[in-house]
Amino acid sequence: MKRIWILLLAAVLLVSCGMENPGKSPDTQSGIADAETRSAQPEKDGSSSDESSVREETQGRETTETTGNQTLVAYFSVTGNTKPLAEYAAEIIGADLYEIRPEIPYTEEDIRYYTDCRADREQNDPYVRPAIAGALPDTSSYRVVMIAYPIWHGQAPRIISTFLEGVELAGVTVVPFCTSASSGIGSSDTNLHALAPDATWIKGSRFAAGTSKESIQNWIEGLDLPDTTGGNGDTIMTLTISGQTFFAELAETEAAQSFASLLPRTLQMSELNGNEKYAYLEETLPAKAERPGRIEAGDIMLYGNNCIVVFYESFGTSYSYTRIGKVKETAALKAALGKSGVSVTFTITDG
Ligand SMILES: Cc1cc2nc3c(=O)[nH]c(=O)nc-3n(C[C@H](O)[C@H](O)[C@H](O)COP(=O)(O)O)c2cc1C
Repeated sequence: MKRIWILLLAAVLLVSCGMENPGKSPDTQSGIADAETRSAQPEKDGSSSDESSVREETQGRETTETTGNQTLVAYFSVTGNTKPLAEYAAEIIGADLYEIRPEIPYTEEDIRYYTDCRADREQNDPYVRPAIAGALPDTSSYRVVMIAYPIWHGQAPRIISTFLEGVELAGVTVVPFCTSASSGIGSSDTNLHALAPDATWIKGSRFAAGTSKESIQNWIEGLDLPDTTGGNGDTIMTLTISGQTFFAELAETEAAQSFASLLPRTLQMSELNGNEKYAYLEETLPAKAERPGRIEAGDIMLYGNNCIVVFYESFGTSYSYTRIGKVKETAALKAALGKSGVSVTFTITDG
Protein backbone atom coordinates (compact mmCIF):
# COMPACT_ATOMS: atom_id res chain seq x y z
CA MET A 1 0.00 0.00 0.00
CA LYS A 2 2.79 2.38 0.99
CA ARG A 3 4.61 1.63 -2.29
CA ILE A 4 1.50 2.56 -4.27
CA TRP A 5 1.29 5.80 -2.30
CA ILE A 6 4.92 6.60 -3.09
CA LEU A 7 4.38 5.96 -6.78
CA LEU A 8 1.27 8.14 -6.74
CA LEU A 9 3.16 10.93 -4.96
CA ALA A 10 5.99 10.73 -7.47
CA ALA A 11 3.47 10.84 -10.34
CA VAL A 12 1.74 13.88 -8.83
CA LEU A 13 5.08 15.66 -8.41
CA LEU A 14 6.07 14.95 -12.00
CA VAL A 15 2.69 16.05 -13.37
CA SER A 16 2.58 19.24 -11.29
CA CYS A 17 6.14 20.07 -12.35
CA GLY A 18 5.14 19.80 -16.00
CA MET A 19 1.86 21.68 -15.53
CA GLU A 20 3.60 24.95 -14.57
CA ASN A 21 5.30 25.00 -17.97
CA PRO A 22 2.91 23.37 -20.42
CA GLY A 23 4.60 22.21 -23.58
CA LYS A 24 7.98 23.51 -22.40
CA SER A 25 9.19 20.84 -20.03
CA PRO A 26 12.55 19.38 -20.80
CA ASP A 27 12.85 15.72 -21.64
CA THR A 28 11.51 13.82 -18.66
CA GLN A 29 12.80 10.51 -20.03
CA SER A 30 16.44 11.41 -19.59
CA GLY A 31 16.35 11.17 -15.80
CA ILE A 32 19.56 12.02 -14.00
CA ALA A 33 22.51 9.88 -13.18
CA ASP A 34 25.48 12.18 -13.14
CA ALA A 35 27.92 12.30 -10.27
CA GLU A 36 26.79 15.73 -9.16
CA THR A 37 23.54 14.61 -7.58
CA ARG A 38 22.33 11.67 -5.54
CA SER A 39 18.97 10.03 -5.81
CA ALA A 40 16.80 8.86 -2.97
CA GLN A 41 13.16 8.07 -2.34
CA PRO A 42 11.52 11.27 -1.12
CA GLU A 43 9.61 9.52 1.67
CA LYS A 44 10.80 10.06 5.24
CA ASP A 45 10.42 6.66 6.87
CA GLY A 46 13.70 5.19 5.68
CA SER A 47 12.08 2.43 3.64
CA SER A 48 14.65 2.40 0.85
CA SER A 49 18.37 1.79 1.05
CA ASP A 50 19.05 4.74 -1.29
CA GLU A 51 17.16 6.97 1.05
CA SER A 52 18.95 5.85 4.17
CA SER A 53 22.31 6.59 2.59
CA VAL A 54 21.23 10.15 1.84
CA ARG A 55 19.78 10.58 5.31
CA GLU A 56 23.04 9.41 6.85
CA GLU A 57 24.90 11.97 4.79
CA THR A 58 22.68 14.84 5.81
CA GLN A 59 21.51 13.98 9.31
CA GLY A 60 24.76 12.45 10.48
CA ARG A 61 26.64 15.67 9.95
CA GLU A 62 27.60 18.04 12.64
CA THR A 63 25.12 20.84 12.86
CA THR A 64 25.76 24.51 13.47
CA GLU A 65 25.67 25.92 16.99
CA THR A 66 22.43 27.38 18.27
CA THR A 67 22.26 31.07 19.14
CA GLY A 68 19.19 31.08 21.39
CA ASN A 69 17.22 32.65 18.56
CA GLN A 70 13.81 31.08 17.89
CA THR A 71 13.47 31.89 14.20
CA LEU A 72 15.64 30.74 11.31
CA VAL A 73 15.55 31.95 7.72
CA ALA A 74 17.08 29.32 5.41
CA TYR A 75 17.52 30.22 1.77
CA PHE A 76 18.81 28.86 -1.52
CA SER A 77 19.71 31.34 -4.22
CA VAL A 78 21.83 30.81 -7.31
CA THR A 79 21.50 34.07 -9.25
CA GLY A 80 20.99 36.33 -6.25
CA ASN A 81 17.28 37.22 -6.45
CA THR A 82 16.11 35.23 -3.44
CA LYS A 83 19.06 36.04 -1.18
CA PRO A 84 18.28 39.72 -0.40
CA LEU A 85 14.65 38.89 0.39
CA ALA A 86 15.78 36.20 2.84
CA GLU A 87 18.19 38.73 4.37
CA TYR A 88 15.37 41.27 4.72
CA ALA A 89 13.19 38.68 6.46
CA ALA A 90 16.00 37.78 8.87
CA GLU A 91 16.70 41.44 9.63
CA ILE A 92 13.04 42.27 10.18
CA ILE A 93 12.44 39.36 12.53
CA GLY A 94 15.91 39.37 14.05
CA ALA A 95 16.23 35.75 12.91
CA ASP A 96 19.27 33.59 12.26
CA LEU A 97 20.17 33.25 8.58
CA TYR A 98 21.35 30.01 6.93
CA GLU A 99 22.36 29.67 3.30
CA ILE A 100 21.60 26.30 1.72
CA ARG A 101 24.77 25.90 -0.33
CA PRO A 102 25.13 23.02 -2.76
CA GLU A 103 28.16 20.81 -2.32
CA ILE A 104 28.67 21.17 -6.05
CA PRO A 105 27.87 24.79 -6.97
CA TYR A 106 25.62 25.43 -9.96
CA THR A 107 27.49 26.86 -12.93
CA GLU A 108 25.82 29.15 -15.49
CA GLU A 109 25.52 26.13 -17.74
CA ASP A 110 23.87 24.12 -14.96
CA ILE A 111 20.97 26.58 -14.73
CA ARG A 112 20.46 27.42 -18.42
CA TYR A 113 16.94 26.08 -18.29
CA TYR A 114 15.15 24.24 -21.09
CA THR A 115 18.52 22.97 -22.34
CA ASP A 116 18.43 19.69 -20.42
CA CYS A 117 20.89 21.33 -18.05
CA ARG A 118 21.65 19.96 -14.59
CA ALA A 119 18.81 21.95 -12.99
CA ASP A 120 16.33 20.79 -15.66
CA ARG A 121 17.26 17.17 -15.09
CA GLU A 122 17.08 17.47 -11.31
CA GLN A 123 13.64 19.02 -11.49
CA ASN A 124 12.47 16.14 -13.66
CA ASP A 125 13.47 13.59 -11.05
CA PRO A 126 11.63 13.91 -7.72
CA TYR A 127 14.08 11.49 -6.10
CA VAL A 128 17.21 13.59 -6.67
CA ARG A 129 18.75 15.07 -3.54
CA PRO A 130 21.65 17.44 -4.38
CA ALA A 131 24.06 17.36 -1.45
CA ILE A 132 24.33 20.39 0.81
CA ALA A 133 27.79 21.78 1.62
CA GLY A 134 28.84 22.11 5.25
CA ALA A 135 26.83 21.61 8.41
CA LEU A 136 23.05 21.74 8.51
CA PRO A 137 21.55 24.05 11.12
CA ASP A 138 20.46 22.58 14.44
CA THR A 139 16.75 23.35 14.20
CA SER A 140 15.84 21.91 17.60
CA SER A 141 15.61 25.33 19.25
CA TYR A 142 13.67 27.08 16.50
CA ARG A 143 9.93 27.59 16.64
CA VAL A 144 9.74 29.15 13.18
CA VAL A 145 11.76 28.25 10.08
CA MET A 146 11.31 30.31 6.92
CA ILE A 147 12.49 28.66 3.70
CA ALA A 148 13.24 30.81 0.67
CA TYR A 149 13.93 29.39 -2.79
CA PRO A 150 13.69 30.21 -6.50
CA ILE A 151 10.98 28.53 -8.55
CA TRP A 152 12.52 25.96 -10.85
CA HIS A 153 10.03 24.58 -13.34
CA GLY A 154 7.12 25.39 -11.09
CA GLN A 155 8.65 23.67 -8.06
CA ALA A 156 11.18 24.22 -5.30
CA PRO A 157 14.70 23.13 -6.35
CA ARG A 158 15.44 19.56 -5.23
CA ILE A 159 18.07 20.82 -2.78
CA ILE A 160 15.17 22.16 -0.70
CA SER A 161 14.04 18.53 -0.37
CA THR A 162 17.56 17.62 0.80
CA PHE A 163 17.31 20.35 3.43
CA LEU A 164 13.83 19.39 4.64
CA GLU A 165 14.79 15.73 4.98
CA GLY A 166 18.02 16.62 6.75
CA VAL A 167 16.66 18.76 9.59
CA GLU A 168 14.13 18.11 12.36
CA LEU A 169 11.00 20.21 11.90
CA ALA A 170 8.40 18.44 14.04
CA GLY A 171 6.31 21.09 15.80
CA VAL A 172 8.07 23.90 13.96
CA THR A 173 6.08 26.48 11.98
CA VAL A 174 7.50 26.50 8.46
CA VAL A 175 6.97 29.48 6.16
CA PRO A 176 7.95 28.91 2.52
CA PHE A 177 8.52 31.83 0.17
CA CYS A 178 10.02 32.08 -3.28
CA THR A 179 11.07 34.27 -6.16
CA SER A 180 10.39 33.53 -9.82
CA ALA A 181 10.52 35.18 -13.22
CA SER A 182 6.74 35.13 -13.55
CA SER A 183 5.18 31.95 -12.11
CA GLY A 184 3.20 32.01 -8.91
CA ILE A 185 4.19 29.80 -6.00
CA GLY A 186 1.81 27.19 -7.46
CA SER A 187 2.11 23.78 -5.85
CA SER A 188 5.79 24.31 -5.00
CA ASP A 189 5.06 24.94 -1.32
CA THR A 190 2.35 22.33 -0.75
CA ASN A 191 4.47 19.66 -2.46
CA LEU A 192 7.07 20.19 0.27
CA HIS A 193 4.66 19.33 3.09
CA ALA A 194 5.20 15.57 2.71
CA LEU A 195 8.92 16.08 3.43
CA ALA A 196 8.25 17.56 6.87
CA PRO A 197 4.78 16.21 7.70
CA ASP A 198 4.99 17.03 11.42
CA ALA A 199 5.68 20.71 10.84
CA THR A 200 2.95 23.34 10.83
CA TRP A 201 3.04 24.71 7.31
CA ILE A 202 1.99 28.27 6.57
CA LYS A 203 0.79 29.06 3.06
CA GLY A 204 3.74 30.20 0.97
CA SER A 205 4.18 33.45 -0.94
CA ARG A 206 5.92 34.41 -4.16
CA PHE A 207 7.84 37.63 -4.68
CA ALA A 208 9.37 39.22 -7.75
CA ALA A 209 13.12 39.81 -7.84
CA GLY A 210 13.91 43.21 -6.31
CA THR A 211 10.93 43.23 -3.92
CA SER A 212 11.46 45.95 -1.30
CA LYS A 213 12.20 45.37 2.37
CA GLU A 214 9.01 47.26 3.18
CA SER A 215 6.92 44.77 1.17
CA ILE A 216 8.61 41.87 2.95
CA GLN A 217 7.91 43.56 6.29
CA ASN A 218 4.21 44.01 5.40
CA TRP A 219 4.00 40.36 4.43
CA ILE A 220 5.68 39.20 7.65
CA GLU A 221 3.44 41.40 9.79
CA GLY A 222 0.41 39.73 8.20
CA LEU A 223 1.63 36.19 8.99
CA ASP A 224 0.09 34.27 11.85
CA LEU A 225 3.37 33.24 13.49
CA PRO A 226 3.76 31.76 16.97
CA ASP A 227 5.27 33.84 19.75
CA THR A 228 9.04 33.58 19.53
CA THR A 229 9.89 35.85 22.45
CA GLY A 230 9.80 33.31 25.25
CA GLY A 231 7.82 35.98 27.04
CA ASN A 232 5.20 35.96 29.78
CA GLY A 233 2.60 38.41 28.50
CA ASP A 234 4.68 41.54 29.05
CA THR A 235 5.96 43.69 26.26
CA ILE A 236 9.43 42.47 25.37
CA MET A 237 12.12 44.28 23.48
CA THR A 238 14.68 42.21 21.62
CA LEU A 239 18.13 43.35 20.59
CA THR A 240 19.70 41.38 17.77
CA ILE A 241 23.46 41.77 17.62
CA SER A 242 25.46 39.81 15.04
CA GLY A 243 22.79 37.08 14.91
CA GLN A 244 22.43 36.80 18.70
CA THR A 245 19.16 37.80 20.31
CA PHE A 246 18.93 39.41 23.75
CA PHE A 247 15.60 39.92 25.50
CA ALA A 248 15.04 43.16 27.39
CA GLU A 249 12.33 44.45 29.72
CA LEU A 250 10.85 47.74 28.69
CA ALA A 251 11.00 50.45 31.39
CA GLU A 252 7.79 52.06 32.59
CA THR A 253 8.61 55.46 31.20
CA GLU A 254 6.97 57.52 28.49
CA ALA A 255 10.30 57.57 26.65
CA ALA A 256 10.39 53.75 26.63
CA GLN A 257 6.87 53.58 25.18
CA SER A 258 7.79 56.19 22.62
CA PHE A 259 10.96 54.31 21.65
CA ALA A 260 8.96 51.06 21.38
CA SER A 261 6.57 52.73 18.94
CA LEU A 262 9.52 53.39 16.59
CA LEU A 263 10.54 49.73 16.42
CA PRO A 264 11.71 47.66 14.64
CA ARG A 265 14.77 49.81 14.07
CA THR A 266 18.41 49.00 13.35
CA LEU A 267 20.83 51.45 14.94
CA GLN A 268 24.49 51.77 14.00
CA MET A 269 25.90 52.19 17.49
CA SER A 270 29.26 53.76 18.33
CA GLU A 271 31.65 52.65 21.06
CA LEU A 272 32.35 54.87 24.07
CA ASN A 273 34.65 54.47 27.08
CA GLY A 274 34.82 50.67 26.96
CA ASN A 275 31.43 50.43 28.69
CA GLU A 276 28.69 51.60 26.32
CA LYS A 277 27.40 51.77 22.76
CA TYR A 278 25.34 54.75 21.68
CA ALA A 279 23.38 56.01 18.67
CA TYR A 280 21.42 59.16 17.95
CA LEU A 281 17.82 58.89 16.76
CA GLU A 282 16.42 61.29 14.20
CA GLU A 283 13.34 61.56 16.43
CA THR A 284 13.26 63.04 19.92
CA LEU A 285 11.75 61.11 22.83
CA PRO A 286 9.94 62.52 25.90
CA ALA A 287 12.89 62.53 28.32
CA LYS A 288 12.45 62.64 32.08
CA ALA A 289 16.04 62.27 33.15
CA GLU A 290 17.09 61.19 36.62
CA ARG A 291 20.43 60.38 38.21
CA PRO A 292 20.53 56.59 38.60
CA GLY A 293 23.76 56.83 40.64
CA ARG A 294 24.88 53.53 39.20
CA ILE A 295 24.76 51.91 35.78
CA GLU A 296 24.22 48.14 35.53
CA ALA A 297 25.41 46.14 32.52
CA GLY A 298 22.37 45.67 30.31
CA ASP A 299 20.83 49.07 31.07
CA ILE A 300 19.32 50.72 28.01
CA MET A 301 19.11 54.46 28.61
CA LEU A 302 18.13 57.65 26.85
CA TYR A 303 20.77 60.38 27.14
CA GLY A 304 19.36 63.83 26.38
CA ASN A 305 16.24 63.35 24.30
CA ASN A 306 17.52 61.38 21.32
CA CYS A 307 20.61 59.35 22.23
CA ILE A 308 20.04 55.64 22.90
CA VAL A 309 22.75 54.05 25.04
CA VAL A 310 23.31 50.34 25.71
CA PHE A 311 25.68 49.72 28.64
CA TYR A 312 27.70 46.53 28.84
CA GLU A 313 29.64 47.31 32.05
CA SER A 314 28.46 48.27 35.57
CA PHE A 315 29.87 51.41 37.23
CA GLY A 316 28.93 54.45 39.30
CA THR A 317 27.84 57.58 37.43
CA SER A 318 26.85 61.17 38.11
CA TYR A 319 25.13 61.59 34.73
CA SER A 320 21.35 61.76 34.22
CA TYR A 321 19.37 59.39 31.99
CA THR A 322 15.80 58.33 31.22
CA ARG A 323 15.29 54.57 31.48
CA ILE A 324 14.33 52.72 28.29
CA GLY A 325 14.83 49.11 29.33
CA LYS A 326 17.16 46.44 30.65
CA VAL A 327 18.68 43.40 28.95
CA LYS A 328 17.73 40.33 31.01
CA GLU A 329 20.65 37.98 30.37
CA THR A 330 23.86 39.97 30.06
CA ALA A 331 26.51 37.21 30.19
CA ALA A 332 27.15 37.30 26.43
CA LEU A 333 26.25 40.96 25.86
CA LYS A 334 29.74 42.47 26.08
CA ALA A 335 31.25 39.94 23.67
CA ALA A 336 28.36 40.34 21.23
CA LEU A 337 28.70 44.12 21.21
CA GLY A 338 32.44 43.86 20.59
CA LYS A 339 35.06 46.54 20.92
CA SER A 340 34.01 48.96 18.19
CA GLY A 341 30.92 50.20 16.36
CA VAL A 342 28.13 47.65 16.00
CA SER A 343 24.73 47.28 14.36
CA VAL A 344 21.91 46.55 16.81
CA THR A 345 18.37 45.71 15.68
CA PHE A 346 15.70 46.59 18.25
CA THR A 347 12.30 44.94 17.88
CA ILE A 348 9.26 44.83 20.09
CA THR A 349 6.80 41.99 20.70
CA ASP A 350 4.06 41.14 23.11
CA GLY A 351 5.28 38.17 25.12
C1 LIG B 1 16.18 25.70 -13.80
C2 LIG B 1 15.33 26.93 -13.69
C3 LIG B 1 13.97 26.83 -13.85
C4 LIG B 1 13.15 27.97 -13.70
N1 LIG B 1 11.80 27.84 -13.81
C5 LIG B 1 11.01 28.91 -13.67
C6 LIG B 1 9.59 28.78 -13.73
O1 LIG B 1 9.03 27.69 -13.89
N2 LIG B 1 8.85 29.91 -13.59
C7 LIG B 1 9.42 31.14 -13.40
O2 LIG B 1 8.69 32.12 -13.29
N3 LIG B 1 10.76 31.28 -13.28
C8 LIG B 1 11.57 30.20 -13.41
N4 LIG B 1 12.93 30.32 -13.28
C9 LIG B 1 13.49 31.65 -12.94
C10 LIG B 1 13.81 31.77 -11.44
O3 LIG B 1 12.73 31.29 -10.65
C11 LIG B 1 14.05 33.21 -11.04
O4 LIG B 1 15.01 33.80 -11.85
C12 LIG B 1 14.47 33.30 -9.57
O5 LIG B 1 14.21 34.61 -9.10
C13 LIG B 1 15.93 32.96 -9.37
O6 LIG B 1 16.27 33.07 -8.00
P1 LIG B 1 17.79 33.18 -7.48
O7 LIG B 1 18.39 34.37 -8.20
O8 LIG B 1 17.68 33.41 -6.03
O9 LIG B 1 18.48 31.91 -7.84
C14 LIG B 1 13.74 29.22 -13.41
C15 LIG B 1 15.13 29.31 -13.27
C16 LIG B 1 15.92 28.18 -13.40
C17 LIG B 1 17.40 28.29 -13.22
